Amino acid sequence: MMNLPLAQLTPAIDGVRMSLHVLAATVWVGGQLTVAGLVPTARRLGVDAPRQVARAFARLSWPAYVVLIGTGIWNIVAVGKGQGTTWQVLLGVKVAIVVLAGLSAWLHGITKSRVGLALWGALAGTASVAALVMGVFLAG
Ligand code: HEM
Repeated sequence: MMNLPLAQLTPAIDGVRMSLHVLAATVWVGGQLTVAGLVPTARRLGVDAPRQVARAFARLSWPAYVVLIGTGIWNIVAVGKGQGTTWQVLLGVKVAIVVLAGLSAWLHGITKSRVGLALWGALAGTASVAALVMGVFLAG
């Protein structure tokens, strides 16, 4: 069997790590934007259709959120060592925003009021986009 040194494998492992993180971000962030855009059409299909679409999306988005946290921790282990203060502060803010995004998405899912739905939904979407942008800056 070929004996590959770890240094040779590192770019491939980095590729897997970042691909998984970005793929999960496309589902969590892009999915929220896409579902928000489809709501008016879903409404025309039936009173309960937006809720059913949202529930179906939740079955995809929460696993993606878990993958984001798992691969996020993997990112820190892989590239966190020796990073400057700016990077560390940005990471701290990003993690707080990720928590805010998750909390808002959860509240969006359980709220009964229309105002709550709109408010928590908008906050979840905005915080998720902010986390994505911060991730891009962290990656440099
Ligand atoms: C809503 C959740 C999240 C989203 C949308 C998100 C999105 C992203 C994106 C788009 C990138 C840049 C990829 C690139 O430019 O190649 C990134 C990088 C990064 N993310 Fe996240 N992320 C999330 C959660 C997390 C969490 C929870 C952590 C830490 C526990 C984390 C840590 C990192 C780190 C350290 C990088 C830089 C990786 C590197 O330079 O190799 N992310 N993230």
